[in-house]
Amino acid sequence: MRKRILSGMRPTGSLHLGHLVGALKNWVDLQHEYQCFFMIADWHALMSEYKDSKKISEYSFDNLLDWLAAGLNPDQSILFKQSDVVEHAELNLILSIITPLGWLSRCPTYKEQINELHEKEISTHGFLGYPVLQAADIILYKADCVPVGEDQLPHLELCREIIRRFHYLFKKEIFPEPEALLTIIPKLAGLDGRKMSKSYDNFIALSDTPDVIREKIKSMFTDPQRIKRTDPGRPEVCNVYKYYQVFAPKMKDDVYKECKGADIGCVQDKERFAEFLIELLKPHQQRRRDLEKNKDYLEEVLRKGAEKAREVAFETFSEVKKAIGI
Ligand code: TRP
Repeated sequence: MRKRILSGMRPTGSLHLGHLVGALKNWVDLQHEYQCFFMIADWHALMSEYKDSKKISEYSFDNLLDWLAAGLNPDQSILFKQSDVVEHAELNLILSIITPLGWLSRCPTYKEQINELHEKEISTHGFLGYPVLQAADIILYKADCVPVGEDQLPHLELCREIIRRFHYLFKKEIFPEPEALLTIIPKLAGLDGRKMSKSYDNFIALSDTPDVIREKIKSMFTDPQRIKRTDPGRPEVCNVYKYYQVFAPKMKDDVYKECKGADIGCVQDKERFAEFLIELLKPHQQRRRDLEKNKDYLEEVLRKGAEKAREVAFETFSEVKKAIGI
């Protein structure tokens, strides 16, 4: 039996280059080795976006386009939407009953978001329970491994603690304790050098048009000490050079020399990178456009995915009810 994986993304915006190199490429490779469940976490999205809830289903489709265009294969993996499988909400209720409040209020990601995301009004019962729902997502499929970035490790630790408490309280071992499959993320900073993120508006979306990509790359920071065209550059501190390292490994040595030797200016260098990236994204964007025309197909992917996910979820939830005795 192949080991099982579950992971998810919150449909709160367009997917960007950071998602592609940080998660999607990795998910695509994992499909061959594991039985994979990949979930559009729309309930999780709602927890922070409930004031603009209509956008969530738009982004669910939009993100699914990128998933498929990047190579996730619905015949190989189970691609589904969280809200289509009702057991997520049901198991969330049960786990929330047994999870002590202190575990949640002490969670570092919770403290950080409460301090930073002032405009969202996330001081709610639901948002405090974010990791509980995430635990339900994972254990409903008895996932062995969860591919995530480092920022999600506290949630995975909480998930394991909740599992132990469930087993202790109801005297039945149902769930494997899942391990993180830490993605080796090539550090891809945003256009301004901070972490690439929707909230900083410093990303290049996988669906950006060539003109938008040119504009965005033009605005990128390079070496702040390189003022005149004739100044030698320092690729080691240049954000554009980091992009070359991640996306154009074959070009990077030449670029390094040309920058150091002031053979090429930053403007010209950025123009060259923009054209390279536009070409690189072309096949992905073409696949996106082809898929976009066929909304029925997308709906069918999610319908079939939900059907398969539901089978597993129903089994697990029956075991849960039996263990509790309800
Ligand atoms: N919290 C995850 C994130 O923000 C998304 C997510 C929801 C998830 N449920 C999950 C990830 C279950 C892994 C497993 O990235």
